[in-house]
Amino acid sequence: MKKNRLALYIAIAVFVSVCGGIAFSQEDIRTVADSAFDVRQIMRPPVRFLHDGHNEKAQIGDCNVCHHAYDEKGQKTDDSSEGTECSECHKPETPENTLALTRAYHLQCKGCHAERKAGPVMCGECHVK
Ligand code: HEC
Ligand code: HEC
Ligand code: HEC
Ligand code: HEC
Repeated sequence: MKKNRLALYIAIAVFVSVCGGIAFSQEDIRTVADSAFDVRQIMRPPVRFLHDGHNEKAQIGDCNVCHHAYDEKGQKTDDSSEGTECSECHKPETPENTLALTRAYHLQCKGCHAERKAGPVMCGECHVK
């Protein structure tokens, strides 16, 4: 009985420390959580996206494949924009905005998956309930 209880306490301690590690790890992005989607009604469930694991599996080395930077000549090859949310540049839908936020995300994510014939392209595969 006593032994079982000790084992249980150890199991709980291990569980808590593992969870704590996950919760406090900055690297551990698990969904696309752009703050622009906080303020309006989300119609679809959040998008599963294990940032580092995804990029490793997909063998994407350059951060600026997604976190791109532009100047008047076009996309800059020697610069990137990580740390700046997509929504700071791609504003949520407005009449004058040609590349609105949702479309920007869909083009980037689905665009590459279609091109490489790898990764999800169906709604429910990304917006997992
Ligand atoms: C496949 C696309 C993709 C690639 C490649 C990628 N990221 Fe990201 N990253 C995202 C998305 C999407 C988000 C979540 C939305 C946002 O914060 O802009 C994000 C978020 C982040 C954040 C958090 C920003 C915040 O506001 O919390 C950091 C930091 C970051 N990425 C750094 C990097 C670095 C460094 C690299 C290269 C080693 C990289 N990313 C490569 C797509 C990508
Ligand atoms: C620092 C500002 C900035 C940030 C941050 C940014 N973009 Fe962009 N993005 C631009 C500009 C400028 C263009 C080119 C003009 C246009 O088409 O609107 C562009 C073009 C695009 C395009 C069309 C061209 C292409 O590369 O396929 C997509 C898709 C896109 N962005 C998605 C994203 C996503 C997704 C994120 C976040 C991971 C992001 N952008 C972050 C400024 C930014
Ligand atoms: C530059 C190419 C590229 C971009 C951009 C990209 N992906 Fe992917 N993604 C891939 C590839 C390649 C795979 C398949 C990897 C494998 O399983 O071998 C994949 C797989 C996935 C998977 C299934 C595997 C996993 O990691 O769970 C999800 C979910 C996913 N992508 C979501 C996204 C989202 C969301 C975005 C946009 C924020 C995105 N991807 C942007 C290339 C890309
Ligand atoms: C490759 C992954 C991927 C696929 C496939 C995909 N989406 Fe998305 N979608 C995203 C990302 C990333 C965002 C922006 C961030 C977020 O909402 O989590 C988004 C945002 C949205 C939004 C705006 C936010 C909201 O919930 O109101 C809607 C609506 C949406 N998607 C609908 C769809 C529909 C409909 C389909 C199928 C035709 C689809 N998506 C397929 C990745 C995907």
